[in-house]
Amino acid sequence: MAIIEPTHAVLALCRAGFEGECGQELADLAGRTGGVGYVRARNGTAMAEFVASEDGKASAPAVESTIFARQVVSVFARLTALDVGDRISPMLAAVRARADEAGRVPWREVLIESPDSDGGRELAPLCRRLAGPLDQALLRAGLLSRTGTRRLHVVFTATDAAMLGEHTSDASRPAAGGIPRLRRLSGAPSRSAAKLDEALAVMMDADERQRLLQPGMRAVDLGAAPGGWTWVLTRHHVQVSAIDNGPLAAHVMDTGLVTHVRADGFRWRPAKTVDWLVCDMVEQPIRVATLIGGWLADGACRQALFNLKLPMKKRYAETLACLERLRDTAGLPLDLRCRQLYHDREEVTVLAIPARR
Ligand SMILES: C[S@@+](CC[C@H](N)C(=O)[O-])C[C@H]1O[C@@H](n2cnc3c(N)ncnc32)[C@H](O)[C@@H]1O
Repeated sequence: MAIIEPTHAVLALCRAGFEGECGQELADLAGRTGGVGYVRARNGTAMAEFVASEDGKASAPAVESTIFARQVVSVFARLTALDVGDRISPMLAAVRARADEAGRVPWREVLIESPDSDGGRELAPLCRRLAGPLDQALLRAGLLSRTGTRRLHVVFTATDAAMLGEHTSDASRPAAGGIPRLRRLSGAPSRSAAKLDEALAVMMDADERQRLLQPGMRAVDLGAAPGGWTWVLTRHHVQVSAIDNGPLAAHVMDTGLVTHVRADGFRWRPAKTVDWLVCDMVEQPIRVATLIGGWLADGACRQALFNLKLPMKKRYAETLACLERLRDTAGLPLDLRCRQLYHDREEVTVLAIPARR
């Protein structure tokens, strides 16, 4: 017999190994809106929870406002001891109870997902198999509505356990696990290329991409070798000064769009303002933040996109300190976006665009 336990928690899915940072961030964000509760974040599970204390509320932040969460869900029920022959009936019961409580059916669609952990990835085929039948069952039961503004989330944590949650459709991500579907990059000279490709695809909207990334623009790539980020920029027909003492792949140079400069990225500056500064140097994050802030302060670049490498223990605190340093050094209002992308490992990606006046 399945057990349905009503609950008030915010669940975030994240990169395995970053549960602590993700939990800290959830608690931090909850604290700003008066949320009281505690964090559950077990290493290797690829998820973190902020559980509201008794009588307490935990309002889920928009996933785009977080750094370490790939997906954010407001959990209303935990299901355990699910009968593997019929997982759907108890789900319908829990969803109906929630609709009764809300006095309406607020959901337009349902998404089934699992954490990006070793165990969670094994649940992906089950999630895919249940997607159609659950969708149909919810429709038949009148528990999905065309006028709904929310997304229903089912997060499997074991073959017989799942959390049921929800979020407004624009505050969670439509792809399972919040993992974007990106094209394969054939011909990229390094794995790192996927990070910049993803950043350009997900950290700006279509309008910004069209406005800010145009053929003929000029960019500087600090720490460019072997040339993955530079190569991604050349595919957008951007001219690149690639700064690194290491060699660049021959086919990157063959694009005719690249000037290789063997120099120290902390010292080299362009003669004229460039459209983009990108930087993937493996250096202390606070030094990188200070460097980029200096470029923005001096008007040496119009916008910047860079990685902060986070090998140290206090990675959440370090990230916040770097963002503060960036703002202080730049000394101008910035539209700052910081996110641990799917392709980021021990690092986060930052996009800094001076605010439009
Ligand atoms: C992770 S790799 C960059 C990979 C590159 N983004 C790509 O996609 O192929 C880091 C690079 O930063 C360079 N680097 C580290 N410190 C540097 C510095 N002070 N000046 C210039 N390059 C530096 C290293 O030589 C190395 O090639």
